[in-house]
Amino acid sequence: MEQGIAAVQPLQALFKPRLAADALDVAMHHDRAVIPLGPPQGHGIAVYGKHINAMGVVGKTLQFGRSLHAEALLSQGLNQSLEIGEDSRQDGEMGHGPNPALTDPSHNNRADQTPLQLGVMASGNGSNFEALAQAIQAGDLNARIQRLVVNNPGCGAQQRAERLGIPVSVLDHRLIKDRRELDAELVRLFRADRVELVVMAGWMRIVTEVLVSGFSDRLINIHPSLLPSFRGLDAIGQALQAGVKVTGCTVHIVTEELDAGPILAQAAVPVLDGDDHATLAKRIQEQEHLLLPKALAGLKPTWRQG
Ligand code: GAR
Repeated sequence: MEQGIAAVQPLQALFKPRLAADALDVAMHHDRAVIPLGPPQGHGIAVYGKHINAMGVVGKTLQFGRSLHAEALLSQGLNQSLEIGEDSRQDGEMGHGPNPALTDPSHNNRADQTPLQLGVMASGNGSNFEALAQAIQAGDLNARIQRLVVNNPGCGAQQRAERLGIPVSVLDHRLIKDRRELDAELVRLFRADRVELVVMAGWMRIVTEVLVSGFSDRLINIHPSLLPSFRGLDAIGQALQAGVKVTGCTVHIVTEELDAGPILAQAAVPVLDGDDHATLAKRIQEQEHLLLPKALAGLKPTWRQG
């Protein structure tokens, strides 16, 4: 029998969304996650490899009414659809040779081309959030914003998300006072949305190890100074106070130490005579809106390849 596509089904049709999200999470951090399938899907197992673009389903998939050996590829992102290829091999066996999705370089390239599934955090105006959305729309960044989370109800970022039709959640720090608890909720929301990479685009709260370890090396911040200069609050005011002639913005990976993680990209901005906070902030933000999408576009999704 010829190899071919037997069916394309939403992932949720085969797995409970919660189970799929957990499996992807395990697969991101470990070699593989093995999920037993039970009725009504049939009997068998699903293996999420460390190469998390690929998934194999081995066993009898009874819903097709005949013996079927199925190999599945997550073709569009981590949660979009399954392509189930039918072939002549015996079903119900393990160890029948490597899954081509894990060995064929063209399949691995496909993983790189899959849109980055982003989660974004913002506290205020949200101009960087919207710059990301625009870069995606313009085709400059191959990504998809799965969800925005804000901590200030009704803030500009929330209004922008609503206008753009991007899912938005509010986690008000005045109601969730414990930082770790708020971060745990962020992790829960983003994982439920299969977010791969989280961007702090003007998130004005200190984050805890709960979020940092929940998205280890996949939590990115933008800061309005040339780090390591002027960490922390009001970096623009600090630069003006120090009388520097050049400042800028930095995109970096977030670690537990504030504004001290590995730098991904920077842009320099001159401080002009007569600048005040507003004029300098405007000049820095123009660069931020270019730098952030560019930095994300340059990322290699190594977590997909292990
Ligand atoms: C941006 O300038 C960003 O660099 C800064 O907040 C602003 C948010 O603007 N972030 C920090 O200061 C973090 N320490 P936006 O809401 O218009 O994107």
